[in-house]
Formats: sequence, C-alpha cells, structure tokens
Amino acid sequence: MQVLLIGGGGREHALAWKLAQSPQVAKIFVVPGNPGIAQIEECECIDLSLSDLEKVADFAEENSVDLTVVGPEASLVVGIADVFKRRCLPIFGPTAAAAEIEGSKAFSKNLMDKYDIPTAFFKVCEDVETAKAYIEEKGAPIVIKADGLAAGKGVIVAMTMEEALAAVDDIMGDQKFGVAGARVVIEEFMEGEEASLLAFTDGKTIVPMIASQDHKRANDNDEGPNTGGMGTYAPAPVLTEALKLQAVETVLKPTIEAMAAEGRPYSGCLYAGLMIKDNVIKVVEFNCRFGDPETQVVLPLLKTDLASIMLACATETLEDVEIEWNDGAAVCVVMASGGYPGEFTTGYPITGLDDANALENTVVFHAGTKQGEDAIVTAGGRVLGVTAFGSDIKQAKDRAYKAVEKIDFKDAHYRNDIAWRALKR
Ligand code: AMP
Ligand code: GLY
Repeated sequence: MQVLLIGGGGREHALAWKLAQSPQVAKIFVVPGNPGIAQIEECECIDLSLSDLEKVADFAEENSVDLTVVGPEASLVVGIADVFKRRCLPIFGPTAAAAEIEGSKAFSKNLMDKYDIPTAFFKVCEDVETAKAYIEEKGAPIVIKADGLAAGKGVIVAMTMEEALAAVDDIMGDQKFGVAGARVVIEEFMEGEEASLLAFTDGKTIVPMIASQDHKRANDNDEGPNTGGMGTYAPAPVLTEALKLQAVETVLKPTIEAMAAEGRPYSGCLYAGLMIKDNVIKVVEFNCRFGDPETQVVLPLLKTDLASIMLACATETLEDVEIEWNDGAAVCVVMASGGYPGEFTTGYPITGLDDANALENTVVFHAGTKQGEDAIVTAGGRVLGVTAFGSDIKQAKDRAYKAVEKIDFKDAHYRNDIAWRALKR
C-alpha cells in the first residue's frame, strides 16, 4: 500500500514511524516531511504546495496512493478531506464541516450544549461590551477563548478580573489573533486534572486510544506560559478504566452521534481534552486531529496495524477491526528553542541525535528541524520530541531523559519533570 501523509512536525514523524512498521505499507510520501522523517526508509519527503488541494489530490491519483493521512488541523479546516472524498480517494481525517469542532470553539460549545455533553458553562460573545458584561457578572477566575484557530495560544486562563478584561481587549479590540478573535467564548474556570483522550472513528463506530497527559506550561512545576505541549506520557493513570468508560458513554459516543445528526458526519481522529475532578469528566476542548506531542507516546503502544485502522476509518468499516494495545508506557520530552513560546532564534546545529537514537527503546521524533549544510539544525519552537518506552512510566522517563542528555543545541530548553503527576500517584 502507498500512503500520502500531510504534515512535517513531531506528530507526523510519529505517524510516519508507526505507518512504516506496517507490513502493508511499502511507501509513504510525506508533504513536506522533515529530516527525521526523511531517515525512514519507506518515506520520501515531497515539496508540494498545500494551498491548491486539487493538486494534492492529483498527486495522490498520479502516484497510486491508497490512503491519505492528514496531520495538521489547518488542511482539514479548509477542506482537504472534502476534495479527496469527492474524488473517491480514501482519506483519514474529517471534512471541513466536521473539522469545525476544532475550527470554531463557539460551534463546539454550542454542540455540547445542545446534546448535553458535559463541559464548562459558557457564553459566546460577538462584541466587547457583551463579553465584559458577562465577565463582570461571573467574576474571576474565568477563561477567555478566541473562537477560531490560534495555534494553541488563543486561550487565556484569567485569575483576576483585570486579566480577563484585558484579554477581551487583546482578542477583540486589538485583534491579537486576527479574525480568529472576531468572537470569543467566555467559559467557567474548571479545576481538576487534565487528560487527552484520542479516538479512532469512521463516523459510526468510535474506539478510544490509550489516554495520555500533556504538559502545556513551558517550565517545571507547571509554571510559565502555555505552549503547544512540552512533553507527554501514556497511559495516564488519572483516566481509570471506569472514567474511560464514562468518557466513551458521555463524551465520545454522544459527540459522534451529534455530528451525524447535524449533517456533519465525523471521521478520522477525534481528540477530546478532558478535565477530571471528583470522578466527573468535562470536556475542555475538541481537536479534529491527533495531538502533538500526544501521538508520540500513544502510537508506540498501539499493537494493531495502524494502516488497517486508518483505512477502516476512511471506508466506514471500523466496526470490523479489533484494536489492541501493548503493555508498558511511553514518555516524550520536548526539547524546545530557548525563548519558546515567545521569541527564539533558529539555525543552531543539533548534536547527539544518532547517539540518542541508538539507546534502548528510544526514538527521537523531529518537530522543528531542518537539514543544514553539514548538520541538522533547529528550525522551530519545539525542536525534538525525545521519546522512550519501558515497562512502566518510571523506566520510560529515565530512558527519555538519558537520551535528552546525549542531545545538545544552543539554548535548548526542556522540562525536567515530565510525567510527575503519574509518578506522584
Ligand atoms: P484549549 O486550547 O482549549 O485546550 O486550552 C488550553 C489550555 O487552557 C487547556 O489545556 C487548559 O489547561 C486550559 N483551559 C482551557 N479551558 C479551561 C477551563 N475552562 N478551565 C480551566 N482551564 C482551562
Ligand atoms: N498537545 C495539545 C494539542 O495537540 O492540541
């Protein structure tokens, strides 16, 4: 089977790495890919513009691609799956109408409200006055979210009234996130512990993956600004079997049914960000794609052939597939450019990648790297996802940090406490 994979970050490196292990997969074209992906024998990185989706579909047709897999939300939100489906090309990922579950927070909150899917109380506000009046009514702490896509930065968890009101001015007044902030969702502040639950779905059947936990804050002890994610581990013990069942029954299944009822059947990977408190689950957010860096720790634990699962999701036959998982655990430590998520410098040579990859049960996923003249160099905020597996979280964590020690680039920044919540239990 020939696969086309869209994307070039750490998540896509993990997807490519796992797909390459499938006995069915002979070749993976990756647009645009990255230097880590390029090292996988089955992978060929392709320089192809993603702005013309018909041309991407032409490429799939001309190269006898059997399955297309989409990593990033941006291509999904603009309708890559619609183009492929119209041309009868199997694709793993939701249509534009279904991807709105991530593309518009107002849409997803209204959906949850209409179908009784548990989430924080909220109000969608179209102008500054209404937003501020609602904040005055509810008080702090309170959460302000830009409606549209803002690369994970459009959420302000305001602990004081001043912060909350300033967030409204930033998002709606100064349009800090452009059109994404034309509307805001103002939401109840939820306490508890978070977990990410990803699920495979073909629109009718939905199967949860192993739960994972991200570390969104930049620094140790969950301090500093929110990032795209500084590290993950799986399984996440906070989501016990009973709670996972609760998530399936109260969140995953109702959401898939709701999307179908709305005429927006959802297939691909559904990412549910959950808040857990006193054995009750509420939805923090939905994403229309795999998590990054959740994918880096979830996929290594998957036993069943990923290509078969994805093809079943694309052809509405997921009911026929039994999905199995391996025992053990995985930990991913993100090595970022110093300054991220604020300003940072790129172009620094990275050393020690081969030594790290040679360690037992370790794989270094590339996120923001580039092939320089004589070395692989840094090229983004999150540079690497150093990932290791073990029989338990402790062993996986020790192995991951041993690999981190082998790697070096100027101003590298990483957290030292990935998986602390699991280890504290
Ligand atoms: P989101 O992009 O919606 O996942 O938000 C980013 C992060 O902000 C989440 O992972 C949470 O840590 C935090 N957050 C979002 N919504 C809430 C909420 N209602 N209460 C508390 N924290 C939240
Ligand atoms: N790691 C968070 C996300 O993928 O949205």
